[in-house]
Amino acid sequence: MAPQSTIIITGGTGSLGSSLARALETSYPGRFHLLLTCRNPDDEHAKTISTFLESKKGSFALEKLDLSDLDGVRTFVGDVKARVASGELKGLVGGGLVNCAANQTFFKGQKWKDVMYTVNCLAPALLMRGLLGVMLEGEGSTVVNVGSGAYEIGRCDYFEGKEESEGKEGEKVGFLEGMKRYGSCKLVTMMVGFAFQRRLYTVYPENKVHIINLDPGSMNAGGRLLGSERHWVFPILYGILGVTGPLLRLVRKDAINPPSVPAKAIADLFGSPKESEGRVWKTGKYFILDDEKKPNALSLNDGKQDEVWKNVGRDTGLGDGLKV
Ligand SMILES: NC(=O)c1ccc[n+]([C@@H]2O[C@H](COP(=O)([O-])OP(=O)(O)OC[C@H]3O[C@@H](n4cnc5c(N)ncnc54)[C@H](OP(=O)(O)O)[C@@H]3O)[C@@H](O)[C@H]2O)c1
Repeated sequence: MAPQSTIIITGGTGSLGSSLARALETSYPGRFHLLLTCRNPDDEHAKTISTFLESKKGSFALEKLDLSDLDGVRTFVGDVKARVASGELKGLVGGGLVNCAANQTFFKGQKWKDVMYTVNCLAPALLMRGLLGVMLEGEGSTVVNVGSGAYEIGRCDYFEGKEESEGKEGEKVGFLEGMKRYGSCKLVTMMVGFAFQRRLYTVYPENKVHIINLDPGSMNAGGRLLGSERHWVFPILYGILGVTGPLLRLVRKDAINPPSVPAKAIADLFGSPKESEGRVWKTGKYFILDDEKKPNALSLNDGKQDEVWKNVGRDTGLGDGLKV
């Protein structure tokens, strides 16, 4: 029988995304239809994960989606909703959305065309909010926004006022500034998720949609780390982390792992819900790998979350309210 639940994984052919697809199919054979999105469904990474899923007779589709193209994201959302309505996908019952894709190119960008902000903040918000109707209809859905410990150095208003910023479009920024931009993206998406969960509780008090921000820790992704335009520091840093990993992990289990470790932590979120998880959530949750943690005070500040919600609602055109 065809799976009744769908899980959408953006960056589905990336290191973590493809490991997650493997983990889901291995842990729950035949339970989920996996809808993997990527920019190039014909590249070697797409072929590798397709071959694996075919060998397992998994139900899956690979679809082209460039998250820097917000019109394309809107069309994708519309397509998914139409397919759910027409019964081709049975809905996101027990399934959900994992926002895995990320852009970590350290370039200056003007606000309205900043690829980093668009891919990491606006596209996940459009997907999460756009698919709300589908998620509300089911028995429960989980949204996992893949975060990063770098959120701690981020600013929640980092992208505000950037349209006036000096600096040439595409000009490179230094490593620390780049990390601050990246961390700010991760912080913004975390706060939008938390604000979303609070609004869901207020507007749909019976809903079973759960928003999670999960930090996968650092991953030894076999050289694929965040695309071809990564900063030169990463290969060196991750080379050192890779060698010292077994020692570092004695102190912190998220220090450096193969992507299969965070993939398993995410896949487990889609397993049999624990008693407490079956309930309505009033606030979003934050995990580092499989441990629930309290994130920093800024990310938990309701007033700041509301500001970020408003800014992202403005930039996506979704506005402030929850439209289904
Ligand atoms: N690696 C780490 O140590 C680490 C640490 C903390 C958090 N994370 C987070 O973990 C997640 C996965 O990282 P990873 O290491 O698995 O990276 P990765 O292998 O480089 O995967 C990144 C994915 O993002 C996709 N992507 C980039 N720009 C895109 C766009 N415009 N439209 C659609 N997709 C786009 C890439 O697609 P293409 O195949 O088209 O390039 C790729 O699938 C990210 O959210 C990252 O921030 C990673």
